[in-house]
Amino acid sequence: MHLLGIETSCDETAAAVLTETGDPARPWAIAANVVASQTAIHREWGGVVPELASRQHVRDICGVVEEALSNAELRLDDLGAVAVTQGPGLVGSLLVGVSFAKALAWSRGLPIVPVHHLAGHIESLTLAHGELPMPALVLVVSGGHTSLYLVPSAGLYQLVARTRDDAAGEAYDKVAKLLGLGYPGGPVLDRLAKQGNDRAIAFPSTRLTHADRNAPAATGAALLPPDVARRVDFSFSGLKTAVLRYVKDAQVHGEHLPDGFVADIAASFQRVVVDALLDRTFEAARWLNAKSIGIAGGVSANSRLRAEAEARGAHYGLPVFVPPLSLSTDNAAMIGAAGLRKFRAGKIGEWDFNAEASLAL
Ligand code: KG4
Ligand code: ZN
Repeated sequence: MHLLGIETSCDETAAAVLTETGDPARPWAIAANVVASQTAIHREWGGVVPELASRQHVRDICGVVEEALSNAELRLDDLGAVAVTQGPGLVGSLLVGVSFAKALAWSRGLPIVPVHHLAGHIESLTLAHGELPMPALVLVVSGGHTSLYLVPSAGLYQLVARTRDDAAGEAYDKVAKLLGLGYPGGPVLDRLAKQGNDRAIAFPSTRLTHADRNAPAATGAALLPPDVARRVDFSFSGLKTAVLRYVKDAQVHGEHLPDGFVADIAASFQRVVVDALLDRTFEAARWLNAKSIGIAGGVSANSRLRAEAEARGAHYGLPVFVPPLSLSTDNAAMIGAAGLRKFRAGKIGEWDFNAEASLAL
């Protein structure tokens, strides 16, 4: 069976065709994976402008789907189902994908599968590596999310921890912006950090000691003792403010920051972020007796995060899985994978489902 996946939750218009392999250990193969990125449009504004994003999705969606089918050497008649990101994300962007997918599926008499964006990021790991040893603990770390999910068995996702304020990718983007490095901030800070001294500046790492009063009714809330659950929640807004203060103080002595100075900030900031992410992930994995660790989402492209996760995994004897770069930032292949997972579990959408800006997994 071939399934068409569509993703338009933020600023990438993406379509992919996935084919079932019949192999339970490695259930899906990518027949085509096309992404039209809007980065060049939003860069000018220093971040994603929602209205511009939805308008560009409208322009790109037909061409992207046609290209995916053509790359897969398939026609619409060859498809067995359509999967689309329902949320969370920018509602105007999501609406383009949801409306397009519904219209296409309805007109061809195909079932439609609404997919949670983070289930997509998690399934990018299965798509790349086959079924993970379970229970698996997956860190989903992107521009919009920083969460830990326990996957006790295939297709079950239990929220264990999440950020109380900014997502890690958001912190990268904001720090890059205040350093005048453009958007998106992750890749450029990652590159600069390699030239800097990661001990040059002692930026603070936030440790939460209070319970989350606004906690969602998390599916995995009771999995950890309360004090551990507090400790493994994330927080990055204090770090972002510390970098802002540091830069403001330095600018008193001159408007232009010397290159070495910026590289030191990048390296020191990145050390704190990566340690914060991995300390919590490995602590939760130990409490939950995880058999493997996955890291998915845009920030999983980070070179230091990848290298240190590998090293810690080797040290603790825990296999660590990270998607290839093409599957770490937003794409439709991961949505197709999560869609096929749901389709085979009999979870097909009703025609009246809507795009949802916030949506629990
Ligand atoms: O998953 P994604 O494409 O979109 C969301 O669902 O948010 O993630 C985008 C985020 C951006 O914040 C970007 O700065 C970050 O991923 N990112 C990185 C790297 N590459 C992308 N962050 C750190 N290091 C990188 N190499
Ligand atoms: Zn994403």
